[in-house]
Amino acid sequence: AWIMAFETIIVDIEDHVALIKLNRPDALNALSQQLIGELQEALESADANDKVRCIVITGSEKAFAAGADIKEMSTMSFAEVNLSNLFADFGDRIQEIRKPVIAAVSGYALGGGCELAMACDFIIASETAKFGQPEINLGVIAGIGGSQRLTRAVGKAKSMDMNLTGRFMDAAEAERSGLVSRVVPAKKLMEEAMSAAQKIAEKSLIASRTAKEAVNRSFETTLREGLLFERRAFHSLFATEDQKEGMAAFAEKREPQFRDR
Ligand code: HXC
Repeated sequence: AWIMAFETIIVDIEDHVALIKLNRPDALNALSQQLIGELQEALESADANDKVRCIVITGSEKAFAAGADIKEMSTMSFAEVNLSNLFADFGDRIQEIRKPVIAAVSGYALGGGCELAMACDFIIASETAKFGQPEINLGVIAGIGGSQRLTRAVGKAKSMDMNLTGRFMDAAEAERSGLVSRVVPAKKLMEEAMSAAQKIAEKSLIASRTAKEAVNRSFETTLREGLLFERRAFHSLFATEDQKEGMAAFAEKREPQFRDR
């Protein structure tokens, strides 16, 4: 049972997967300061919880999240935004989550919603998903990675187009552009995301965390340094019991029993 009381999200842990559902239906899951705080707390608890081996973040059928809460931000001054370092803490801390995190996106993933999805390790989208960085329509720009992660995901042409015109990208375009890893019918979204999470949860957590770390490293460094990081990480996994078990199980034609050792 989950002991924390949340108001804007619902957290469920089942079979080693923590499912975090954004739950502000009246505001299309707009990311209020309260929601951001609760999401951060839930993610960090799940990361620290031994029962959790993979995390899924989702929204409703209509909206993953329609962005930062515009009504909360509308009257803020430069000084308030600057001094509170609006959303920066969240942006930094979500990067520090070590367990794999999947975004299951249906409907709108706009502004901060698109940025939240992109901060996850990968995105599984329903056919109804719509991604966008429409902040330009509000007289601002993306503030939690929309100009950086989107560019790395889809390249300059599409990122500039999205950030400058504010147009939305549908699921098919998002898939062919490399923003999402899979597109499935809306009815199948949660089944697909949970089964992907389940698959990940069956692996050695030491290996899955190391894989995540190595892929993320590719965004931070040169190819040569990245390859060196990967090689050292690969070597280090031979110090684990899970490597012995995984390879022995293959040779013995049975399922491995990973113990995170
Ligand atoms: C606050 C929001 C909201 C938001 C929707 N709502 N998005 N409230 N912040 N980002 C509220 C609406 O005000 C409305 O409440 C209710 O949710 C339903 O929305 P509607 O607009 O009536 O729905 P619909 O006509 O279906 O249009 C859906 C939509 C539209 C296209 C997604 O809501 C929309 O354009 N939303 C804003 C998208 C956006 O600009 N996102 C970027 C935000 S800036 P009421 O009470 O009126 O019924 C951002 C910056 C991040 O994210 C970086 C910060 C550092």
